[in-house]
Order: sequence, then structure tokens, then C-alpha cells
Amino acid sequence: MTIADVLESRLSLSGKTAVVTGAASGIGLATAKLLGQLGAQTVFLDRDADGLSSAISECSNQTAPTLGFEIDLADAKAIEQCFARIVDQCGGIDILVNSAAMNVAGASVDYDLETWQRVIDVNLTALFLACRLSARSMIERNVGGSIINVASVGGLSAGITGRANANPSYRATKGGVVNLTRALAIEWAAQGIRVNAVAPGYVRTPMINRLTSDPAREAATIEKIPLGRLTEPDEIGWVIAFLAGEGASMVTGQIIPVDGGLMA
Ligand SMILES: NC(=O)c1ccc[n+]([C@@H]2O[C@H](COP(=O)([O-])OP(=O)(O)OC[C@H]3O[C@@H](n4cnc5c(N)ncnc54)[C@H](O)[C@@H]3O)[C@@H](O)[C@H]2O)c1
Repeated sequence: MTIADVLESRLSLSGKTAVVTGAASGIGLATAKLLGQLGAQTVFLDRDADGLSSAISECSNQTAPTLGFEIDLADAKAIEQCFARIVDQCGGIDILVNSAAMNVAGASVDYDLETWQRVIDVNLTALFLACRLSARSMIERNVGGSIINVASVGGLSAGITGRANANPSYRATKGGVVNLTRALAIEWAAQGIRVNAVAPGYVRTPMINRLTSDPAREAATIEKIPLGRLTEPDEIGWVIAFLAGEGASMVTGQIIPVDGGLMA
């Protein structure tokens, strides 16, 4: 067997349909591009219409088709309609990556309840709906599948970011993503659906602009990371791509930190 044969059997996603939420930016964009390069027909979902169209045009030279749908994931009805259209147009869903999320910091004693609810809707309820709509398509076709949720080291440890960074809704939803991932992995194991999560540390995307736009804060953050630098989005994408493919065929219910050693 050549290297190409081994890679083809373990990493290739040809013939698969992958749906990626939050695909207009950061980790979702890097992951959607990579899944397309590995041969999957890739469906980009995001509420950012401009970001979505530039992401799709960047990927227009890939062999497998690329589709995009503009959607606000806070809208449960819109999620159901969107996934029905995807199943109709693509014939089914084999891989789901839930990357979209919002992050609104604030002290718990004053935290605005409407914001709290929106963060729960986007970071947790939308992720749950996307998981079960994808699982229905996998179960109906009896083909199994792979779901990868993007959690956070903040879902595994509240202490890691220090006491100056109050963010109750983000921490609560990311902790929820961690345990929901485990629960769904057990529930759907009999149907051959693997459910895993990655837990990124600090990744250079617009989500941490507030941190990277302040050189002193960025340097203090890097000082805490054993590998001594921020993560690039495609370094998360590669771990997700591995989890999506046959190379990870016995991995389910796991939360994999990709954080340069923060959680070690
Ligand atoms: N960047 C980091 O340091 C970091 C660390 C830990 C975890 N994460 C997680 O990684 C994931 C991706 O974040 P990122 O860093 O790529 O951020 P990002 O801001 O670059 O991308 C997030 C994307 O989600 C989309 N989105 C947000 N709310 C939406 C909604 N209601 N409907 C549809 N789309 C919506 C945004 O438009 C954006 O394109 C998130 O789940 C985030 O919590 C990021």
C-alpha cells in the first residue's frame, strides 16, 4: 500500500456530505475548506451573508460541490427548514460540524437575561437541533455518521481563563456541549453515529479580537500556553477532519483539547 492509499482509506471523505455551522469565519471556515479538500460535498451555514459568499467562492475550485445557506441559528424553525432543504438537495447528511457560537462576556450579578437566552439558543439549542436533524438522516439511511461539536477549554475548566474574565453564559453552554456530546455518543452508538468534540484553547479568529488587538494581553495569554503561541484555525480543522473520517472509527464520546497544552 502506498502512502496515498493509506491516506485515501483513512482520511478521504469523498462521497460524504458534510454540514458546517459558523462556516463563514474562523474555525468553521478553516474546517469547511479542509473537509471539501478531503473530498466531501460541503454545506456552509452562517448568518453572515457576505462572509458566506466569499467563503463559497474561495472553495469554488474544489472537486466536490459546495453549497451555502444563510441562517440565524437562534431560530429553531429556520434550522428545521434549512436541514430539510439540505437533505432534499444533497440526499442526506454524513458529517456535521457545529462550530457557530457567540461569546458575550459580563459579570453574573448584572448579566442581561435576553442575552443569556440568546447565547443558550445559539450555542446549545441550535447545536442540539442540528445534531438530531443530522442523526435522523443518518439513521433513516442506516449509514452511521460522524458529528463533531466545537466546545472550548472554558467548558472543561472555569479557572483556566482567570478570575478577570466573567462569562457565565459562554461557560454554561460550553459545559453543556461537553456533556451533551457524551450523552449523544452513548445514545446513538448503536446506530454507528460517532459524536465527539474538540475543545480549543486560544485560536486566532475574530472571536478573540479583543484579546489579540491588545499586545500586552496577547503576550500574557501566550505566556500561559505551554507550546508558546496561539492556535491557528486549521490546526483545529485538522483534528476535526480526523474525527470525521475512518481513521477515528473507534473514537466516540471524547472531548479533545486542542490548546497547546493548556489543559495538560
Ligand atoms: N477562537 C477561540 O479562541 C475559541 C476558543 C474556544 C472555542 N472556540 C469556539 O470555536 C467555535 C468557532 O469560533 P471562532 O473562533 O471560529 O469564531 P468566529 O467568530 O470566527 O466564527 C463564528 C461564526 O459563527 C457565526 N455565528 C454566530 N452566531 C450565529 C448565529 N446566530 N447564526 C448563524 N451563525 C452564527 C458567525 O457569523 C461566525 O461566522 C465557537 O464554537 C467558539 O466558541 C473558539
